[in-house]
Amino acid sequence: MQGQNKPTITVKGENKADRDTITIADTEIAIKWSSKLMKNVSDSQVNTKIMEPTEVHIFKTKARELLVREPDKLLPLSIGGLIWVKMPYVNDLSNADLFFKNKNNNWETAVKGIKDLFRRFSYPNTWIQLGRILAVDIFDGNWDRFNSSGGWDNNGNVMFQKAANGYRVTGLDTFDVKNTPDTNLNQPLSPQVQQHLQILMSDIRMREYATNVTTEIAGFILKAMGNAVGGGIDDFKMKAGGRKITITRKGEPDFFYGYIDDLCTGLKEGRDEIKRYLLEKVRQYDSQWIPTSRSLSTPRSTGFSMGSNKHSDIAVKTSAPAGFTTPSSLKTIPQGITDRMRYFRWIV
Ligand SMILES: Nc1ncnc2c1ncn2[C@@H]1O[C@H](COP(=O)(O)OP(=O)(O)O)[C@@H](O)[C@H]1O
Ligand SMILES: [Mg+2]
Repeated sequence: MQGQNKPTITVKGENKADRDTITIADTEIAIKWSSKLMKNVSDSQVNTKIMEPTEVHIFKTKARELLVREPDKLLPLSIGGLIWVKMPYVNDLSNADLFFKNKNNNWETAVKGIKDLFRRFSYPNTWIQLGRILAVDIFDGNWDRFNSSGGWDNNGNVMFQKAANGYRVTGLDTFDVKNTPDTNLNQPLSPQVQQHLQILMSDIRMREYATNVTTEIAGFILKAMGNAVGGGIDDFKMKAGGRKITITRKGEPDFFYGYIDDLCTGLKEGRDEIKRYLLEKVRQYDSQWIPTSRSLSTPRSTGFSMGSNKHSDIAVKTSAPAGFTTPSSLKTIPQGITDRMRYFRWIV
């Protein structure tokens, strides 16, 4: 909410997927779980909650009051069928979208912005942080930052938060309605999604993807140079990441290849963090089954290992195991996620 001196929360209306096969419930699951994963893997500030109808009502009433002189800004409030969500307000955000319209209505970029972006991508940490975010996007099927081939489709969704010693990449905007059915975490895993998950499973696929991402970001900087204010620039010199470098617009977009390993490190860290988090969720949700009085004396573990004798294997229950009853408010992991976990062989 703007209007207060210091904003504390951000409210956003998400569209339901424009396909009949995807319900509001599916969309809500995707919004919820993509945020949970990103919160744990990238940034605790990425914490999207679906708003209750009463909250939406209070928000809309207040917004109409505050923005009474700017009716244009109120238009989204009357769009039907939006799913309203809230999240913490993140301070000092900027993003990689360098282009703006000048007074002649042409797209331009500022040289300062180009150099700034180049500098931000001159630290291994930037690439590691980006890799962790992209691991979540790949897992979810969210192609609204980079697409599944590593093409940079939405510069605005690579967001940075200013930190004491530079910038931190943050994984805000975790859900995109256009990407369904890939993003439908409530449906069985499709062969197409399996293909995409291979990026996180095969070293060759991961390297290929990471190479494309670094090429895209370098290519974007070269393109921006061509659109720099005043007819473009042919080159610029920078001291970044401890070395002096000249970037030439007609050169190859290969000047971030030195960071491919860092990006892969981030992708692997992200994948491992997703695994750790989800296995913890399985344990947590499994412990909510209520033992029937008859089974109270039975050691708990006997009801829990199904399908395999191996100690490390974890099975996800879909119905109450023998000796247990279903609690009234059962928390479950959606099928799209358990299917992914099985595909990765994290569970049986
Ligand atoms: N939690 C937040 N805190 C502060 N600003 C935000 C937050 N989330 C989004 N924004 C601002 O709104 C812009 C659009 O948000 P985003 O989630 O990418 O929406 P969209 O789905 O429309 O792309 C961001 O670039 C950012 O400037
Ligand atoms: Mg966005």
